[in-house]
Amino acid sequence: MSNRTLTFNIFRFDPYRPEVAPYMQSFSVEELDGMTVFVALNKIRETEDTAIKFDFVCRASICGSCAMLINGRPQLACKTLTRNLPKKITLMPLPVFKLIGDLSVDTGAWFRHLSLKTKSWIHTDKAFDPQVLEERMDNQTALDIYEAERCIECGCCIASCATANIMEDFWGAAGINRVARFMIDPRDGRSGKEYFEVIGSEQGAFGCMGLMACDDLCPMELPLQMQLAFVRRKMLGLGFKV
Ligand code: SF4
Ligand code: SF4
Ligand code: FES
Repeated sequence: MSNRTLTFNIFRFDPYRPEVAPYMQSFSVEELDGMTVFVALNKIRETEDTAIKFDFVCRASICGSCAMLINGRPQLACKTLTRNLPKKITLMPLPVFKLIGDLSVDTGAWFRHLSLKTKSWIHTDKAFDPQVLEERMDNQTALDIYEAERCIECGCCIASCATANIMEDFWGAAGINRVARFMIDPRDGRSGKEYFEVIGSEQGAFGCMGLMACDDLCPMELPLQMQLAFVRRKMLGLGFKV
């Protein structure tokens, strides 16, 4: 049982009250056994400041809402145990995304935009017939699609990406993973050329510097390096220079 007293330095800013400049506020929290940053934040909200803003839904690393910079690293607050952190913990909102207030950012709007830009739906000419049995898919293909679908849209890969931090509209690893997901899906009828109209740009695979911060920091441990290599191989196969 731990008896540390933790000091949380938390970013505070309300974009709707721009007259109050951003500042850092300190809170002390008695550490509990198995405490996560999320639990500590709830304690702060219950006992110190009910107005502090941060996001959560599932508390179980499923919804992706609670991502923030924890001592400078993009991580999920509900998955990060305080015992793995030093006594002084600095919490900042994820960069790149629109700030809602304090630690809360709008990843939802960013990922909706990504879905539209990458046309994240099955493209097919086949008319839907509710009477016809579903087509079978081989197990490995289904598993590969499932692997890419495990993205919880937390935004950690985007926040950690140097390119995304300097280039507006860069899709980052989440976007490349998304495109790869449809490329491997045999139900999607898009040609290679059509795919590369989507991904063959500075916003897509050309903007990626390949330093792999995204791969290191994805809380779902998605094989982002592999997805990037897969997309690049496909582009090379079609004669695109990457
Ligand atoms: S490898 Fe590419 S997508 Fe991943 S962090 Fe680096 S630049 Fe961003
Ligand atoms: S790829 Fe990983 S880090 Fe990026 S949004 Fe999805 S789950 Fe989060
Ligand atoms: S609250 Fe859902 S991932 Fe943390």
